[in-house]
Parts: sequence; C-alpha cells; structure tokens
Amino acid sequence: MSLELSSTIKLNNDVDIPVLGFGAYQLAKGDETYNAVRWALESGYRHIDTAQFYQNEKEVGTAIRESGIAREEIFVTTKLANANHGYEQTKIAFDASLKALGTDYIDLFLLHWPVEGKRLDSWKALEELVRTDECRSIGVSNFTEEHIDELMKGSKIVPAMNQVEFHPFLYQRGLFNYCQQHEIVITAYSPLTAGERLDDQTITSIAHSHNKTPAQVMIRWALQHDVVVIPKSAHKERIIENVAVFDFELSEEDMQTLDGLNEGLRFSWNPYDPEQVVRFS
Ligand SMILES: NC(=O)c1ccc[n+]([C@@H]2O[C@H](COP(=O)([O-])OP(=O)(O)OC[C@H]3O[C@@H](n4cnc5c(N)ncnc54)[C@H](OP(=O)(O)O)[C@@H]3O)[C@@H](O)[C@H]2O)c1
Repeated sequence: MSLELSSTIKLNNDVDIPVLGFGAYQLAKGDETYNAVRWALESGYRHIDTAQFYQNEKEVGTAIRESGIAREEIFVTTKLANANHGYEQTKIAFDASLKALGTDYIDLFLLHWPVEGKRLDSWKALEELVRTDECRSIGVSNFTEEHIDELMKGSKIVPAMNQVEFHPFLYQRGLFNYCQQHEIVITAYSPLTAGERLDDQTITSIAHSHNKTPAQVMIRWALQHDVVVIPKSAHKERIIENVAVFDFELSEEDMQTLDGLNEGLRFSWNPYDPEQVVRFS
C-alpha cells in the first residue's frame, strides 16, 4: 500500500482531499489555534478541519495566510453550526465563515449535524453554493444511512463526504459500506478516541511491534481502511508524531486484531440515538 503524506482520495465530484488532515476542535481561539495550525502546516499537513461551532475559524484563517503556503495548496473544511440551519440562515452563516477564514472559497462545507426538520432546506443552500463556485464540495457529518437516504431523495447533489466518529472501538463497517456504495467518502473524527483509549494493551503491543506509538497505530488503521483521518493536538511534538504514519504498514493480521476491538464505543453524540449520554470522561 503506497500511502504518502501527499496522498489524496477523490471525492464524487472529482475534487481531491488529502487523506490526513488536522482537526481543530477544542483548540481555544487565539494563540492555541494559531500556533497549532502553523505547526501542522510546517509539519506537512495540507488539510485543516474546523467548524463554526469551534469558534476558531478566524485563527485558522490567519495561520493559513501567514504560513506562506498558497491557499490552493491547503484543503479547508468547515461546518454549519446547528443554530444556523435553514435555507437563508445557511447562506448567511456560510458568508460569515468565508469572512472569518479570510478566504473567498471553502473546499468542503459540511452540515455538522442532521438537524431535524431543517437539514433538507440547509442542504439546498449548500447545493447553491457549489453552483456559484463558493464551495468546491459539500457533505454531511453525523448522518446515518437513513438521513442520507432522505437527503438524496429530496435533492440533486449526493454528499461528497460523511464525517463521523470512527476508530478501532467504533468501527462503523455498515455505514462505511453504505457510503462506499453511494460514492460518499468517510472522514474519521476522534480517530484517537479523543485521547481516551491510547493506553489500550492491544494497541500498545501492536505499536511496540512497529516501533511506533498508539496514536500512530490508530491513525494508520483508519488510513488503511481508506478513510480520511483528522487527528487533533494542541502540542507541537504530537502534531509531528501524528503525521509520521507513512513509514510503516499494519499487516493484515494487525488490521484484523484492531477491527476486533470494535465495541460501538462513542465519545461524541450518537446520531442513531441522540438521547444517549455522551461518554466524555
Ligand atoms: N463532525 C463532528 O461532529 C466532530 C466531532 C468531534 C471531532 N471532530 C473533528 O475531528 C477532530 C479530531 O477529533 P477529536 O479532537 O475529538 O479527538 P482525537 O483527535 O481523537 O484526539 C484528540 C485528543 O488526543 C490527544 N492527542 C493527540 N495526539 C496525541 C498523541 N500523539 N499522543 C497522545 N495524545 C494525543 C489530544 O491532546 P492534546 O491536544 O492535549 O495534545 C486530545 O486530547 C476534531 O479536532 C474535529 O476537527 C468532528
């Protein structure tokens, strides 16, 4: 398998998305976000994942501009906040994202959550943004098979992406197969279990056998499942560590062992059961 830091996956509208991205959730606005994004870009990431909800689009945009790297070399994803759903509201919120990021286009704009009763109207606004070239591609996040079916029935553009929680303890094989069948790429969020299961014995032992760290094994597992992966860290040494995943390969046996860790464990809200308590420790 010849995965490289520059590897991309082709979306269903022919746009290429880098397989490894940098996640910006829970990076505080101000220096924390600015520094982390600068370190990520210096370390070779060319894909940054933010959201209106994270309230750090401004610092992400400043870090991108001041990196000296051409805008078109960096893939930027942002997401519509739940409070901004609705056709007109979506367009207004999208313009606010452009302004905060200081850019005149977004590479990928996602509905962050399948907000009941409003998601179809919001999606129609996203379709419009693609037609006017303000957005290169559009997609969804936290959508189940049922949500996607409903969206596809009521609209023209098939989402290019479904960004969902995905790690060895939540190997969403059914959703992955469904998305593959409809040419929808999956992005794995919380690929490091939000930091909660990095000390797992099975993962640690596989990591030792490759002279790698548990975080690197989790990222590599997702990459070898052909999904886009967006680990987050506020620390320079970890940002560098998380990008060093292209000089080793997990064997078929390693992959099967890691697949076997699946226990449906979620660290974020469950779109199949929104009432379920979130398991953040
Ligand atoms: N669409 C959605 O609804 C949604 C939901 C959640 C996340 N996301 C996206 O996915 C991205 C990643 O998910 P996430 O932030 O939830 O969690 P994550 O990437 O799975 O894990 C981040 C946690 O792991 C720690 N960490 C990172 N690298 C490490 C390493 N090499 N060794 C040890 N610890 C390490 C980080 O600590 P430090 O920061 O202190 O280093 C942080 O506590 C987010 O930033 C966001 O962009 C999307």
